Amino acid sequence: MSRRLQALQEFIDEVRAIWSRESDNGIRMAAAKPAMEKLLADASLRKASEEWPSTEGRKNLLLYVDPDHEFAINAVVRVPGRKGNIHDHGPVWVMYGVLTGTESLERYERIDDLSDENVAQVKLISIGNGVPGKVDIVAPMDIHSEKGGPTRSTAIILRSARLGEIMQGQYDPLTNAVRRGPGPAQIPFEVNA
Ligand SMILES: [Fe+2]
Repeated sequence: MSRRLQALQEFIDEVRAIWSRESDNGIRMAAAKPAMEKLLADASLRKASEEWPSTEGRKNLLLYVDPDHEFAINAVVRVPGRKGNIHDHGPVWVMYGVLTGTESLERYERIDDLSDENVAQVKLISIGNGVPGKVDIVAPMDIHSEKGGPTRSTAIILRSARLGEIMQGQYDPLTNAVRRGPGPAQIPFEVNA
């Protein structure tokens, strides 16, 4: 039987220990950041990622869902120059770590008065330089976008819950329309040694 890549198993073990010890998802995410940084620095994982399939078309590779604590681990594989849409993840906490390639990690804020649930005016407030090893923690309802760089890029994502059925927001900065709907399709995927 094939065995999970050791670096990924160690990350899962560390995150499970943190989730057992802490109950607040924000505190859990902050505590798991060093473990994510260690995972992103792992040469065997970077090597393995070269073979991963593209996740274009609103897909995530689903590497793991914890049976006790609900957290999930995803990977995404972006094509060069990908234009990521602007979105939030509803009630879910997200830790996004760039593994290979470069991406722009954009953050937005709402500048409307929240009076209409179908309308949201958003403004770009920062662009983070997503280089390999960069980790970005996205709190519930935070509006953001990941834009692809000039080459293929990959990222590992730790989420407080598995996406898919959870409703999340998609924002159109041209029309100010906001739409709530299910998250990216979750494609089960094993990362083995
Ligand atoms: Fe996101």
